[in-house]
Amino acid sequence: MSEKNRAVPQSVGIIMDGNGRWAKRRLMPRSFGHDAGMKRIVKLVECARAAGIRYLTLFALSTENLARPREELEGLFGLFRKYFEEYAPKLVAEDVAIGVIGDLSALPADVSGKMLEVCARSKRDAAFRLVFAVNYGSRAEIVRAANLAVKAGGEVSEEGFSRLMYTCGVPDPDFIIRTGGELRLSNFLLWQSAYSELYFTKTLFPDFDERQFKRALKEYSRRNRRFGKV
Ligand code: IPE
Ligand code: IPE
Ligand code: MG
Repeated sequence: MSEKNRAVPQSVGIIMDGNGRWAKRRLMPRSFGHDAGMKRIVKLVECARAAGIRYLTLFALSTENLARPREELEGLFGLFRKYFEEYAPKLVAEDVAIGVIGDLSALPADVSGKMLEVCARSKRDAAFRLVFAVNYGSRAEIVRAANLAVKAGGEVSEEGFSRLMYTCGVPDPDFIIRTGGELRLSNFLLWQSAYSELYFTKTLFPDFDERQFKRALKEYSRRNRRFGKV
């Protein structure tokens, strides 16, 4: 890999936070912010592909978010439906593989069905992999993997344990971006982020545009990743 390529993270995660506050500032309902967030996703996927990123994992709904009011959740489910009907099939046709991680059983059956259908149509060797974390919680994922390991019997290695995660096949994120100003991971990829570079911005997700994404990537390119070595 050339120096130039090493400066681009292969695998990126984004904690897309701040939609509700973005709407509130405009005296609009939270759903207005989620709509704007979805439009932003469409642009950022393009930007990530153009930048040479290979894997993009987007935190769309946490396990804890399921405790939000029904009305907000229905709105989010509607957006997932729209994304997987209108945008995802086009991406699959353009050599993008789409994946979903998390417990889909809490979603309306037509939404989870559509997601799984699009994922199944994605090619394994696609040039770019886009993963949505939906009703995803990292602790739940780790406990699930531990239970799978117990059922299989014997001991597991770190690599073997990683393969029991939802994220099997997706490299650990080199870079995790969180928009919205909070300085925490909120149960996102805790096992996988052991050596991720973290980037926090106060920008609310609907305002996180291509320019800001490029600025974040530039900062990544300046980081010195030592992995414990000297
Ligand atoms: C992130 O934005 C999107 C989801 C969690 C679904 P929020 O909805 O958390 O927005 P804020 O943090 O309340 O502004
Ligand atoms: C994290 O945002 C989850 C997603 C972006 C999907 P939250 O808004 O749920 O996080 P907290 O509650 O501020 O930690
Ligand atoms: Mg939030």
